[in-house]
Amino acid sequence: VSEVPVVFGPSDGWEAEAAREYFGDRLPYAVRYAELLGSAGIERGLLGPREVSRLWPRHLLNCAALTELVSRETRVVDVGTGAGLPGLVLALARPDIRVDLVESLQRRVDFLHEVVADLDLGEQVRVIRGRAEDAGVRAIVGGAPYVTARAVAPLDRLVKWCLPLLAPEGELLALKGATAGDELAEHLPAVRRAGGVGARIEMCGARLDESVPVIVIARGKGTR
Ligand SMILES: C[S@@+](CC[C@H](N)C(=O)[O-])C[C@H]1O[C@@H](n2cnc3c(N)ncnc32)[C@H](O)[C@@H]1O
Repeated sequence: VSEVPVVFGPSDGWEAEAAREYFGDRLPYAVRYAELLGSAGIERGLLGPREVSRLWPRHLLNCAALTELVSRETRVVDVGTGAGLPGLVLALARPDIRVDLVESLQRRVDFLHEVVADLDLGEQVRVIRGRAEDAGVRAIVGGAPYVTARAVAPLDRLVKWCLPLLAPEGELLALKGATAGDELAEHLPAVRRAGGVGARIEMCGARLDESVPVIVIARGKGTR
């Protein structure tokens, strides 16, 4: 079997259109990020091999939909970022925001440093090795207007780790997929105990083939 060259750009049609809208003149950087994910990211086991064919719909565009919930010129902390999802996608799509990537595993942190250098994002993105619940991490990234998380932990654990990283009234944006409603209903008592208020589901990604449900939870004003 001859080797088939892998193309790392979005497919023609709605993917390409959405990619242009989300990434604007940074689209070539997003394509380069897709290439890094689809080569080194897969070789090092940060993503499964089956993900190569769905990097855009399932990863880059799914994560880019979160930009719809992030205000201008702000700061986002991405907890459990793995290979940089959604944090690096947000940084690429939104040059006006600063992004902190929090990841506990050194192997993933090494990859993140390489990608940040390759994409020349050093001014905009910080990579922090540690667990979100560690006091050291809290001291570095605490008081954030937004914390994001995708595929990191069930919501009851996520709120315990993430709400303390937020400024009062800051928002946790949790990408949870189709189970978002059920998960929020199940863990609402834990959300309230952790000081979360105004919990709701926002449907993002109107430009995509499937909308992207996001659990939004604010940190209550009086929460310590
Ligand atoms: C399943 S991966 C998801 C990665 C990425 N968010 C994505 O959507 O592809 C979960 C990641 O969270 C990291 N992680 C888990 N618990 C964490 C914690 N308490 N603090 C920081 N990172 C954590 C893991 O090391 C892993 O890289």
